[in-house]
Amino acid sequence: MTISTDQLSKVLRELGAGNSLPGDRRLAQINGYLGEIYQSPEYTDWIGREELQPASQFTIPPRLSIHNKVAHNLLIELEIAHSDSTLSARIDRTQSTIYLTDGFWVDPEYRVFPTSDESDILCDYVSRHSLASKYPLMIDPACGPGRHGIGIDTPYQISLDMSERALAYSRLNALLRGTTNQLFGANDIVRGFPKPINVLLREKTLIVANMPFAILPKRPGRPEPLAQDGGPRGVALSKALLDATAMLFKNAAAMRELRVILLFYSLGRSDFGPWEIAQYAEALFPDAVAKTTILTEKPMWRVNGRKEQPNPMPVSSLKEKARCRLTYKEFDEDAIRDGFLKRQQQFAKDGWTHLGYGVLDISLTKS
Ligand SMILES: C[S@@+](CC[C@H](N)C(=O)[O-])C[C@H]1O[C@@H](n2cnc3c(N)ncnc32)[C@H](O)[C@@H]1O
Repeated sequence: MTISTDQLSKVLRELGAGNSLPGDRRLAQINGYLGEIYQSPEYTDWIGREELQPASQFTIPPRLSIHNKVAHNLLIELEIAHSDSTLSARIDRTQSTIYLTDGFWVDPEYRVFPTSDESDILCDYVSRHSLASKYPLMIDPACGPGRHGIGIDTPYQISLDMSERALAYSRLNALLRGTTNQLFGANDIVRGFPKPINVLLREKTLIVANMPFAILPKRPGRPEPLAQDGGPRGVALSKALLDATAMLFKNAAAMRELRVILLFYSLGRSDFGPWEIAQYAEALFPDAVAKTTILTEKPMWRVNGRKEQPNPMPVSSLKEKARCRLTYKEFDEDAIRDGFLKRQQQFAKDGWTHLGYGVLDISLTKS
């Protein structure tokens, strides 16, 4: 069983209230115990094989629960674990911090993004360029369970997402690690950034974005996976983010410098590009300094949990995703493969040959 979104809110209320009472040690107990579970050989083994057994949930081994009875009972009380010791959320670690998110067993229609590899790329990029110390405010327009909030240490942060469930996890993870510098909000980036944000903007602001960017044929009779679907060519929400950024920069009087770091999948006209998203950014921000890096050392196109294709990959490899049991049911496989082949034919007609996985870095300045 999966923890419900309502229950995540109740956990927030329960732990948040306790947190303000003197002597409340529950957050530390939960953190310690989650870390202990994560490091146990049984969990390491389970998480390593998770993508091959998508329906499986982890059961806390008895020796851990006996050793840590108070925290164990607390997890059950909060419904983060069940009385049979199965976990109802997935424990993961990013930048040495333990956090909670959905497991692969949750329906992709509303599953909060399970893995941290993409966010880790962005956090490493921000760290390599020392951006956290240059920008007092970071905005994450699609925060999922809040990994950028964990890995990027700007003094203030605004974390937005379309999904209430993602926001609930993101808030819980912030509470678990005791941060109070984040503002959370529900927002559809297709409609732009919420206007009140203008009041909070700093002279220098950083946007770090990992929008959904997979190219996915329609699942018969079911909605698209919210955290993955990037529209017909994968860049629909990345473009929406750039449009929203252009509006934000134009309307925010206080802002002088805006830096956007965007992770993307984008079609290109050869294995060297040009890449659709980079061309879109150039047209939208003709005066900006923009740099596109294709992450050739990182494999791409996740099938059954693992990114397995070379980067960039030819569009003929898109159909490999039909084998992915974490996104599609076995009985959908043929229809999905056909869907990919149709997309591939359309891309060939339009002159798109490759899909690239990279980072777009845009600096906007006002005089
Ligand atoms: C690929 S996940 C990234 C999560 C997180 N930033 C990370 O890197 O781990 C994409 C996120 O975009 C959110 N999302 C989808 N459509 C959106 C929209 N129109 N506006 C804002 N967020 C959206 C999903 O709910 C999901 O949390």
